[in-house]
Amino acid sequence: MASEKTFYLETFGCQMNAHDSEKVIGTLQQQGYRRVETEEDAGLILYNTCSIRDKAEQKVFNRLNDYKKLCKEGKRFAVLGCVAQQEGEKIFDRAPYVSLVSGSASYRNLPEMLTRLEAGESRITGLDDRETDETFETEFTARQNPYRAYITIIEGCDKFCSYCVVPYTRGKERSRSSSSVLGEARRIADLGYTEIQLLGQNVNSYRDPEGKSSFAELLAAVGQVPGIRRVRFMTSHPRDFTRDIVDVIDQVPTLCDHVHLPVQSGSARVLASMAREYTPEWYLERIAWLKAARRPISLSTDIIVGFPGETVEDFIQSLDLLAQVQYDCVFAFKYSARPNTPSLVMIDSVPEAEKNRRLQVLLERQREIQRVNYFKHIGEIVEVIVEGVNPARGQVAGRSSQNKPVNFAWSQPIAPAPGSYLCVRITGAFPNSLVGEPV
Ligand code: SAH
Ligand code: SF4
Ligand code: F3S
Repeated sequence: MASEKTFYLETFGCQMNAHDSEKVIGTLQQQGYRRVETEEDAGLILYNTCSIRDKAEQKVFNRLNDYKKLCKEGKRFAVLGCVAQQEGEKIFDRAPYVSLVSGSASYRNLPEMLTRLEAGESRITGLDDRETDETFETEFTARQNPYRAYITIIEGCDKFCSYCVVPYTRGKERSRSSSSVLGEARRIADLGYTEIQLLGQNVNSYRDPEGKSSFAELLAAVGQVPGIRRVRFMTSHPRDFTRDIVDVIDQVPTLCDHVHLPVQSGSARVLASMAREYTPEWYLERIAWLKAARRPISLSTDIIVGFPGETVEDFIQSLDLLAQVQYDCVFAFKYSARPNTPSLVMIDSVPEAEKNRRLQVLLERQREIQRVNYFKHIGEIVEVIVEGVNPARGQVAGRSSQNKPVNFAWSQPIAPAPGSYLCVRITGAFPNSLVGEPV
């Protein structure tokens, strides 16, 4: 390896992976590594990977293939994250130039693994800790966003939905203590961050190991940390979605007007086969609580089309559910059969062309729903946090409490700083964003 220790890191997948990368970057910097922008410039190339769908997994192998020639120059490769945990040592067979393979539950051991890597060892693995009770906490987190800070409050997943790799890649569910979460929230606020996103694959399955706070109480406490103006949480599971979460959003102004509640299907039969452990009625009851809140809580969801055995009637029930809930945002996915999961043995009965058709129909319907929803904001004044400024075009990109993108023009000499808050009157709407003018 080159005498100066440099690394390139690329992240795939969800926000938990993005936040894990911030911790990995911090740990590497602590070990004397400097981050660089390209694979060519780095001595150590790391990919933090996602295996949620087949396409996500292919990305890492394509990337490794694109850059494998660099191993001739003595560069080392590391595969981290969910593909690492899922494929394990098989990665060394598929890509022999990879030297380190580690799942997220083993990142505590990264300093030791790096030392072995520097000593010239290859085939180093961190794959054994999925049954751990520990969470990955480090004081070295190198946060990449100057105003929004992620805090993981619960790792892993015990739900075992039949299609999903996460319980196998991230291990069993384990929560951080509420005092440690609050301590981090206070430190973050002292550093000047104003927005906190609490993270977990099932964030609301949170169970305080100290027994001090419920999830709703923790939300309230984080929302009351001085200096914090916005608190979000991702992703909630309907099974554990309790009414006190709605009450606390109503009571604590800093909690954002947005809940992401993945439904996956509108058909009771498909939900049962997915092992989601709720019915459409149960789910819709929680939606009714959210709609009855005093705050205008925006709703978003995840949905899978073409699950094994999904009939046209089942699919229509998903469309009906979308029409009933009127979400502001939907992430729709074609079912992808994944290794190790129970649904792998089910017959992947919906042909690819039909999966594509269902996806297009669903997205088209949802676009119409959003067109109407977003149009309703015209005339309102909303507070936005500035996320990006394009000085050449005089354009500012912001985000509302409801998590909607709000774009507006800026004509004054000094543009607002990213991370600042201001009020915008909404003058126009598209199915995925709003436009306005600062007031
Ligand atoms: N823990 C969250 C989300 C997990 S993964 C939850 O339970 O809702 C994010 C989304 O990816 C899921 O909500 C699901 O819609 C989708 N997904 C997961 N596994 C999938 C698979 N095998 N095929 C297609 N989509 C999948
Ligand atoms: Fe996957 Fe289900 Fe766990 Fe979500 S709750 S991470 S979909 S197993
Ligand atoms: Fe992907 Fe792992 Fe997240 S599979 S979605 S990176 S938990």
